[in-house]
Amino acid sequence: MVLHYKVTVYTSNRVCATTLNSVHIKLVGTDGESDRTWLNSLVIFRGSVTTYTVCCSKSLGKLILIELDKRHRHFVPDGSWFPDKVEVKSPEEDVYTFPIHCWISDKATHRYREGKALRIFDESNSLGEYARHLELSQRKANFRWNEKSPGVPNCIEADGPCTLPHEVRFSFTKDIEFKSTIGAAIIELELKGLECKKKNWKSFDKMKHVFCNKHTPLSDYVQQNWKEDWLFAYQFLNGVHPTLIQRCKTLPENFPVTDAMVSKLFISGGSNLSNELKQGNIYLCDYKNLDGVPAHITEQIHHYLTAPLVLFHKRPNNKLMPIAIQLNQIPAKKNPIFLPTDSPYDWLTAKIFVKSADFSEHQLNAHLLRTHLLAEVFAVSLLRKLPMVHPLYKLLIPHTRYTLHINELARKELIGPTGIFTRFAASGGKALMMILARSLSSITYRSLCIPDDIADRDLQDVPNFYYRDDGLKLWNLIYTFVQGVVQHYYKNDDEVQLDPELQTWICNIFEHGFLSKKETGIPQSFTTVSELIKFATMVIFTCSCQHAAVNNGQYDYGAWMPNSPMTLQRPPPTKKGTTSEATILQTLPPVNFTVQGLTAVWLLSRQSSDFVPLGHYPEDHFTEKIPRQLQKDFKDKLDDLSKQINMRNKGLEIPYTYLDPKSIENSVAI
Ligand code: FE2
Repeated sequence: MVLHYKVTVYTSNRVCATTLNSVHIKLVGTDGESDRTWLNSLVIFRGSVTTYTVCCSKSLGKLILIELDKRHRHFVPDGSWFPDKVEVKSPEEDVYTFPIHCWISDKATHRYREGKALRIFDESNSLGEYARHLELSQRKANFRWNEKSPGVPNCIEADGPCTLPHEVRFSFTKDIEFKSTIGAAIIELELKGLECKKKNWKSFDKMKHVFCNKHTPLSDYVQQNWKEDWLFAYQFLNGVHPTLIQRCKTLPENFPVTDAMVSKLFISGGSNLSNELKQGNIYLCDYKNLDGVPAHITEQIHHYLTAPLVLFHKRPNNKLMPIAIQLNQIPAKKNPIFLPTDSPYDWLTAKIFVKSADFSEHQLNAHLLRTHLLAEVFAVSLLRKLPMVHPLYKLLIPHTRYTLHINELARKELIGPTGIFTRFAASGGKALMMILARSLSSITYRSLCIPDDIADRDLQDVPNFYYRDDGLKLWNLIYTFVQGVVQHYYKNDDEVQLDPELQTWICNIFEHGFLSKKETGIPQSFTTVSELIKFATMVIFTCSCQHAAVNNGQYDYGAWMPNSPMTLQRPPPTKKGTTSEATILQTLPPVNFTVQGLTAVWLLSRQSSDFVPLGHYPEDHFTEKIPRQLQKDFKDKLDDLSKQINMRNKGLEIPYTYLDPKSIENSVAI
């Protein structure tokens, strides 16, 4: 008797997914396995759905996995193949789905499990356990930790993006778009001869013409209003670095602002500094993380980096305004406290030094470390420790897309020995590693969870704080979604404690991401279902929302260089009354530095055409009804939130769009 298994192969529609290789399949079930069978096609086209037959002499029982391999045919080009999934209909009319969603580029045999999510103790067959073990051994070999940089999170062992396993690299489309965007920007600069111009800017006016077409409504707005105190303050709530400001109830000892300095700024009449502090109307940005960091040394210019303290006052009209700036941490005669009542150039110079320090703190701590490098840790741990069939793998893998590739690119093109950051930023080179290590030392689990972070910074009731408003709503939506999925698979705390793969995964993150620092508060193991839910929520939030918040506005706020200079080439003023427009122009970075920086932020703010928004899961790793319904509910709620944010933004002079779910990517991919 011959039994027929109907095998339907779904090939991805992405560019280059077609294969001319001969593909073979083997079905493996609880009662036996089929022969390795050729899928009878000379070409498997991208986007195709084709059904084949696999014949067996007896029933294979319940199907556990499939094996796929492809072989190069003579006289036709070799190449990779990208199958999305395989469905198998058994002679008993049972339908099994095997999610794949990755490139097959070699001639090895690849195993894919049936789509139902299984924890290790759900495996009823030793074959399943063996497949898990085999898969993780392979992954450990492919995704190795690089532990060479002391004090910073470990990263993937690779020598550039091209050496990464195919499955985690950019798609052909993304790769081409990325290269053409940067190519177009460089050509424009070369045509204008700006890239090699080492001179200082002669006027602010000349800076307006770096790029002809690369403007956003907000970048134009910033260019026109950058000197305004309210826009300076606004950016600490709703710009690209909303994670530093905190309410200040007691002045730091090293920031001796007196009532005499600032009381005339309190337009509420009769108020004074201690009153305003008590009432919660005073806010602080403290760049102590940069204190004592020696600015990078390069041949081209002398770099200066300061560690300012900035005090803000919330006016009765709910606008935040800067009221005092001290450019270094130790109070001294030569480190004056600048005030809005000083000469306009002194005050503007002080604000420019703050914005330059903010560039370094934002890019290295808030952006690189707290999103890119942590997302990489989450990705590598996931790949090394959880098999594809594990429910947490299915939940989190879409939030790791392209992260290893973009980080390898950043290590090469931005912070590598010849990278843009290394060559042009005050915090490049050794300063960069020092800032990263300090930032990791002070990172806490609470600061990665927005509800805790907002509470710890005491910012629950600051008006017009859209990063907080949208961020908390997003956190809650992600939490509800994750809760649904996790509680579907883990019915009680014991099941969490008894899942060795899950425990090894969190251990791996603690060890390689947070260098086993207990004081971070990062869990070293999971004891309850709710701990697991919170941690997975944090992972998704960090990889999607938090990255969008600190990444997507880089060009809006950075295109006008004086608003965000990557370095400064004169020391901070040591007494008042020594500044002018000329000293400011001598302090700001020269032309070639400016245009290199702008090219980078232009590229890093671009959305690729294969962008996947938060909550969209085009790769159906989950095949079961409940998690798929939870995904749909999540997406629907995100759509509603997007509408609310759009409505809110219509009434704002500066719309806050970075946490609109439609513009948040599922993963750190840029
Ligand atoms: Fe980024």
